[in-house]
Amino acid sequence: MSPVFSSTVVIFRTPAPTSVPTSAPTSVPVSTPSTPAPSSSAPATPSGSCAPNTPAATAGKLRFAGVNIAGFDFGCNTDGSCTASAAWPPLMQYYGMDGAGQMKHFVQDDGFNVFRLPVGWQFLTNDVLTGTIYEQNFQKYDDLVQTCLSTGASCIIDVHNYARWNKEIIGQGGPSNEVFAQLWGNIASKYANNSKIIFGVMNEPHDIPDINLWATTVQAAVTAIRQAGATTQIILLPGNNWTSAATFVSNGSADALNKVKNPDGSITNLVFDVHKYLDYDNSGTNAECTTNNIDDAWTPLSQWLRCNGRQAFNTETGGGNTASCQTMLCQQVQAQAQNSDVIIGYVGWAAGNFYPTYVLGETPTQSGSTWSDTSLVQACLSPKTNKLIA
Ligand SMILES: *[C@@H]1O[C@H](CO)[C@@H](O)[C@H](O)[C@H]1NC(C)=O
Ligand SMILES: *[C@@H]1O[C@H](CO)[C@@H](O)[C@H](O)[C@H]1NC(C)=O
Ligand SMILES: *[C@@H]1O[C@H](CO)[C@@H](O)[C@H](O)[C@H]1NC(C)=O
Repeated sequence: MSPVFSSTVVIFRTPAPTSVPTSAPTSVPVSTPSTPAPSSSAPATPSGSCAPNTPAATAGKLRFAGVNIAGFDFGCNTDGSCTASAAWPPLMQYYGMDGAGQMKHFVQDDGFNVFRLPVGWQFLTNDVLTGTIYEQNFQKYDDLVQTCLSTGASCIIDVHNYARWNKEIIGQGGPSNEVFAQLWGNIASKYANNSKIIFGVMNEPHDIPDINLWATTVQAAVTAIRQAGATTQIILLPGNNWTSAATFVSNGSADALNKVKNPDGSITNLVFDVHKYLDYDNSGTNAECTTNNIDDAWTPLSQWLRCNGRQAFNTETGGGNTASCQTMLCQQVQAQAQNSDVIIGYVGWAAGNFYPTYVLGETPTQSGSTWSDTSLVQACLSPKTNKLIA
């Protein structure tokens, strides 16, 4: 049964920024290798004093490749207002598309090994501003999580609220860090013993007035997740400006989030969350790609990560099913793999309840028992094609 098109679902995760991406930020250390490349055991050096930009010899294969399975985030706007009743589970038992079949196909036929499962905070608490989970709603989301886990893939829990609840910024005029930490403690306690779960603290913070205050919000979530018993899983730390990979360093997110620690003082499995699209305004709303992001984003970011002993995960990227995107997204993925000592993987946007005709649609179509991928997934993202996944 094919789902009825919902005309109310118009999702722009990222509005068009007013300016086009510029060249590499000047604060990023420029590579002038006069000294030998540090060995992989070299201690982290402060930003600005690490010249060589040489990937570790082990670089070449990424740890994760995946797809976003969207639907539970439908009804969320970029100002953090979401309506629980507008969430649309991407599962057939809830009259959504066949997210279960999609994920199974992506794993079995393509070799993908991670899915990101966006969900609105409001859905998890049924529109009540609290950290207490509303079980009736959560069970539906957990159905998607368990379906993901059953494929053998890793599964990213992504709270898709843009650092906000109904227009107000968490820890900066909006909900307290304490409430947000309660939410994360409660989510984490559900999955505390599952090593395949990855905790995505927040989708695309933007226009955050104080990045250091935001880092304390992220710290509160990390502490709550660890204290709930999820002591070892990856936690994704999101920066400002829609988690832009291009401005993660220059706009101060890198230095601020570099201070976030596990309760034991370590940074083990605290990974930075970065997004990047390939269209002219980094909005992920245009069919044509104009950049492969290598010089402006992946190279300088990788340099900073290497110098500081950190890693990042590109949990949203993508483009239209066009020739320009086939060229540039494939180039981007190759560059990420060349920096796989510090970039751990990529997740395409998006499948799930998006129709294949959506401009960035990555939803495969089924005919009989055969699934067919969109041209961009097939050409650039599928590990079966690119052979870039370890
Ligand atoms: C945000 O990122 C966009 C492009 O990725 C860039 O043009 C803009 O200047 C950035 N804004 C800030 C405040 O860094
Ligand atoms: C996690 O714990 C729950 C409850 O104790 C148990 O039912 C489940 O099998 C455990 N899962 C794993 C992966 O260990
Ligand atoms: C980040 O960008 C915003 C907007 O342009 C600016 O106000 C702020 O000072 C920047 N922060 C840092 C640390 O560069």
